Amino acid sequence: MSEPVRVGVVGLGTVGSGVVRLLVQSADHITRQAGRPIVVERAVCRDVGRDRGLPLPADRVSADIRTVSRDPSISVAALLVGGLEPARSMMIDLLEHGKDVVTANKALLAEHGPELFEIARRHGRSIAFEAAVAGGIPIVAAIGECLAANRIESIRGILNGTSNFILSTMEEEGADYADVLHLAQAKGFAEADPSMDVDGTDATQKLAILAHLAFGVWVPWGEIPRTGIEGVDADLMASAAELGYRIRLVAIASRSEGRLAMRVAPALVKIGTPLAETRGAFNAVSIVGDAVGRMFFHGLGAGQMPTASAVVADIIDTVVGRTAITFRTTGVLDPDSPAARIAGADMVQKHFLRVRVDDRPGVLSRITGILGEHGISIASVIQRDPAAADGVPLVIMTHACSTNAVAGAVAHIDASDVVSGATVCLGVLDD
Ligand code: HSE
Repeated sequence: MSEPVRVGVVGLGTVGSGVVRLLVQSADHITRQAGRPIVVERAVCRDVGRDRGLPLPADRVSADIRTVSRDPSISVAALLVGGLEPARSMMIDLLEHGKDVVTANKALLAEHGPELFEIARRHGRSIAFEAAVAGGIPIVAAIGECLAANRIESIRGILNGTSNFILSTMEEEGADYADVLHLAQAKGFAEADPSMDVDGTDATQKLAILAHLAFGVWVPWGEIPRTGIEGVDADLMASAAELGYRIRLVAIASRSEGRLAMRVAPALVKIGTPLAETRGAFNAVSIVGDAVGRMFFHGLGAGQMPTASAVVADIIDTVVGRTAITFRTTGVLDPDSPAARIAGADMVQKHFLRVRVDDRPGVLSRITGILGEHGISIASVIQRDPAAADGVPLVIMTHACSTNAVAGAVAHIDASDVVSGATVCLGVLDD
């Protein structure tokens, strides 16, 4: 039997604890996959005294990253702490001291990816990050390796399990937003600060990482237009259902006239399509490649063991040498890539509008007139009475049109004197 590979696990939260458990409980299987045993030599966490019930001797757990980075017997470190600092400093310390790093920290890569990749390459080390996007779904390997022969045309993803759990549970059980959020936290899907789940930050950071792999550009995640799920209410869900759609938080990146159009926002997805059937904490990614056509990936995108599954697979890949090979070309700039700047990039799709208007003569023609002035053609209009205190909801479905034109029309509508609240505008996905 070959010598064991010694691993350091940095962070013993939900994911770190899952990784330790998986490495121990599936040790025989993992040994066969890696060709040698993989053992947790040391772990680092903030609260050393806490009993997590893990199969780790107390003298192997410390609060000091240097117990891993300076241990010459350790060759691979799993960095499983969230946030930017001290995670960034820890990653640099590990790379500079000769460790290959596996991480699930998407915020760190979305914010500091170019710097960290450069440091890793300078030190002849690798960074593996399958667990950073869509938890257990092997989407990083799929885009970076399995679909490498394709020019990727578009990516659409449900990339945040917490917000999908909230939307689908509210819809299926008529449950209250706050109650469902608490349940997601109890189940361990949500970020330490769940506002990053519901305001779209988490999905946007994951989209930036996927765009790097698929399009060879690092897009600063803060430049990607983002709308969270906070404004999605039962009334909006009911209007969508009446038209044959559900509402999901969808992250989109697509090539469009030499630019990269990107956004994260709630969207209407047609009932019966895979994105609409993605429920609970499941994630889904739909990709179009020029050779392969449309592909669909679905699985648990959050939670302890699905994320540990991806981390441990990356540890095995690193141990057998696969990561070192793929990391050399991971997301290397593509001279044919769409412009990194996404400002002004446009998408053509159907749109759903809910406009709250005063119920008086001429109002409908004002709204449809503004849409016409912006070149937007209407497919259907639904108006229900009686008027609520905050106006009558007018639900409009457009034909396929430019997102930029719709944004201009909505600004025009909201500046008019016939509306009694901000218009909700959502993209519509039929496939
Ligand atoms: N909080 C994330 C989610 C999981 O709900 O999908 C980790 O990325």
